[in-house]
Amino acid sequence: MSMGEFKPGLEGVIAGQTDICCVDQGKLLYRGYPIAELAEKASFTQVAHLLLYGELPTESQHAEFVSMLDGFHGLAPGVIEAIRRIPKQAPMMDVLRTGVSMAGHFDPVAGASPEDLRRRAVWLLAVCSDVVATRFRLINGKEPVPPRPGLPHAAQILYMCHGSPPDDTSARLLELTLILYAEHDFNASTFACRVIGSTESDMVSSVVGAIGALKGPLHGGANEKAMELILQFKSAQEADAWVRDVLARKGKVMGFGHRVYKHGDHRAHILEREMRQLAKEKGRQDLVAIYDAIKDPIVNKDKPIYPNVDYPCGLTYYLMDLPLDLYTPLFVCSRVSGWCAHYIEQQTDNRIYRPLSHYTGPAVRPVP
Ligand SMILES: CC(C)(COP(=O)(O)OP(=O)(O)OC[C@H]1O[C@@H](n2cnc3c(N)ncnc32)[C@H](O)[C@@H]1OP(=O)(O)O)[C@@H](O)C(=O)NCCC(=O)NCCS
Repeated sequence: MSMGEFKPGLEGVIAGQTDICCVDQGKLLYRGYPIAELAEKASFTQVAHLLLYGELPTESQHAEFVSMLDGFHGLAPGVIEAIRRIPKQAPMMDVLRTGVSMAGHFDPVAGASPEDLRRRAVWLLAVCSDVVATRFRLINGKEPVPPRPGLPHAAQILYMCHGSPPDDTSARLLELTLILYAEHDFNASTFACRVIGSTESDMVSSVVGAIGALKGPLHGGANEKAMELILQFKSAQEADAWVRDVLARKGKVMGFGHRVYKHGDHRAHILEREMRQLAKEKGRQDLVAIYDAIKDPIVNKDKPIYPNVDYPCGLTYYLMDLPLDLYTPLFVCSRVSGWCAHYIEQQTDNRIYRPLSHYTGPAVRPVP
């Protein structure tokens, strides 16, 4: 058998077909709809329906979807008990991974038909937000609160975390980030989900694997890391000097660069506008000055590197008074819709993923 060319990181390799999402001339489309239009006109649950069912819902389909999601909220007591027992210092992403895995033992959906899988996906949307909110409350010394039926997904998450309805700006901005984060074709976590699904393993296992992949700072973990970076500096001058030094040493700046977008991430533009407005309202121009001081030398260098969505997202969440540990888990609360859509698509036309490796170890030798 002839060996194909080795592409580190599978760069440029087409590893499957999908109807769900594509990046067309630098623009992100969910099932053909431009992300900018969805961000302006759709709610997160409409987008989740689009990803899972293939079309934006009619009014009655949407009402049905939201009522199914509302009905799935509320973790089994055994799951809450397990979350309670996880050491306090455990990162929220680890708690979420364990929480979803534990919740899998109480999966209320039977069967594996496409319709069963879609219902399980909606259940997982509820589970992720429930685990995050439950943990958030428990580590703050409070008991979980039940959801308030009918709230938009972002407002619901904030409601279940804080126990009171969120302000309009926080609800709107979290909803926006959930829409921007929902799907991105064969990124690392979605690919991990599809690889696990390709073995005919179950949806919960595939999502648990994807959570592990998203946690990494080169992927979803970058929103937390980008904010940690901004907070590291007391002034724009300090940030500017640091970035120039890092670039001279060919180091990495978190929240910048992308395998697919080499001329800028459209999602970052959309979110950055909102973040600047929020910072103005909150009187935090000092943080925006540091944000710009980090960004300017990178986007203005000979070979520019642009911010990805995680860069403005970190500061947006910070300005919404959300703790850093919640940023990547909130990404999961959205991306789980994309993962599940891919899992379902993988099942409908499956062939197990089994690539080759280029062996670089010792030649054949006898055992002494
Ligand atoms: C996202 C990421 C993993 C993509 O990796 P990749 O496609 O393998 O990109 P490469 O490492 O080939 O980068 C291409 C060039 O840009 C540089 N580069 C990429 N991201 C950079 C960053 N964040 N800071 C500084 N330089 C960066 C690389 O050093 C490389 O330079 P070179 O051509 O002179 O060697 C990478 O850009 C990164 O680590 N970014 C920071 C983490 C992050 O924000 N992740 C969230 C992604 S949505």
